[in-house]
This record gives sequence, structure tokens and C-alpha cells, in this order.
Amino acid sequence: MRVLVVKDYEAQCRAGADLVEEAVRRRPDCRLGLATGSSPLGLYRELIRRCREEGLDFSRTRTVNLDEYVGLAPEHPQSYRTFMDQQFFDQINIDKRSTYVPRGDRETEESLAEFRAVLDQGSTAVQILGLGADGHIGFNEPGETLHARAHVETLDESTIRANSRFFENRDQVPRRALTMGMGEIMAAERLLLLISGAGKEEAARRLLLEDLVTPRWPVTFLRLHRDATVLLTRDLAERIGYRENIM
Ligand code: F6R
Repeated sequence: MRVLVVKDYEAQCRAGADLVEEAVRRRPDCRLGLATGSSPLGLYRELIRRCREEGLDFSRTRTVNLDEYVGLAPEHPQSYRTFMDQQFFDQINIDKRSTYVPRGDRETEESLAEFRAVLDQGSTAVQILGLGADGHIGFNEPGETLHARAHVETLDESTIRANSRFFENRDQVPRRALTMGMGEIMAAERLLLLISGAGKEEAARRLLLEDLVTPRWPVTFLRLHRDATVLLTRDLAERIGYRENIM
């Protein structure tokens, strides 16, 4: 696991964009694994800028997203499909037919079968990940066990609370989500974890300052990946007492 401590959020976004750009330039038809939420927003902004100003070409790139809320149709304003269209896809030269966000509005079994089939269709060059305060990646919530494959997850209270900022009130946040499983995340050629936002200290500590791999903190599985990059800001590194050469 490669850990890069950078000056601030802007630097984090640029470093993340470098990694994605390298993959797209090397293999223009590669598949990218994408995340929603606040952490990757600046990374998407930087990729949009590079597409517009520097000719970074997404016309042959394919994407698959980590998750989607159960019960929200793609056109729902808070769906992850809407998020991805607005924050990224509609602003770059990607063919929208090559982008996949799982369907939260269909019978779940049917949606899961489709999601798994898409994941099986090829490999992901770079999987972008954010970190939940409870240590989740995708929506793989902590517990005694984790799922290897795409499944429906009941969201933890802390996740519902954190995500309520995108909704009018807490009651509107869906309680369940479709998510890639841990095995599908770990199968990506490269993982890129962006640690950003409030309340991530404990999860970051578990990942960066301990050696345990535990389903109680799903993010700790990143340590088992052969090409995982973790990007965090100096400010967070100092708060959790991480020194760059610890591991
Ligand atoms: C989003 C996802 C989640 C988020 C995580 C952090 O697709 O899979 O794991 O990455 O909840 O969210 P933010 O970045 O909003 O703090």
C-alpha cells in the first residue's frame, strides 16, 4: 500500500487525477471504477479540466460505479446516476452508453444480476474509493463478515446520518443500497483511496497506524491489495499522528 501525504485537498485531487489520466492514456478503452460522495468531487473537476484544456480523451473509456440507493430511479435528483451525470459524465467527452451505475429502482435480484454481469465483463483499471467514517468502502458496512460480490446492504446509522446532507431530511435517505462486494473492489488492477471530509480520523488510524485486517473496518482490506494508493492531506496525517515513513 502506497501512502501519499499531500499539502491540501487540491493537491489530493491533482495526484488522484494523475493516476486516472495515466490509466486512460495508457489504455483509452480501459474501465474506471467510480465513486460518488464529496471526496472525489475535486478529482472529477480536475479530470473535466484536463479533458477540456489538455485533450484528455474519455471517448472510449468505460466506467462502472460502486453503488446506488435502493428505491431511487436513475432520474431521481439524489440518485447516484444523477450525481455522476451532473458532476462528471455530462462535462467530459465520454459515451454515456459506456457508463454503468447499478439500478436501484428495479427488483433487486434483477438489478444485482445485471450489476454482477457488468462487473464480470472485464477488469477495472483504477477503482476510485472514498472512505466512510465507519470504515466502509463502497457500501460494504462493517460487521462480522463481508460480502465478496455485489449485494444489497443495509446502511449503518452513521452512514445515513452522513448522507442526509444530500437530502431534505434524514427520513428521506434510503436505508438500503446496492454495492459492489469486497472481492469485486479488490479485483481492480489499482485502487485509489481518497481520504477526505470530517469524521474519518478513526477509520484512517485503523488503516494507517495498525496492521490488522478486519471486517470491522472494511477499508483495512486495502492492505492486502498489491497496488493500492492512499491519498490524504497533511492536516489529517498530523491529526491522527501518521508519519510518512511509518509503513
Ligand atoms: C460512494 C461510496 C461511499 C463514499 C463514502 C465517503 O459511492 O461508495 O463509500 O465514498 O461514504 O463519502 P464522502 O466522500 O461523501 O465522505
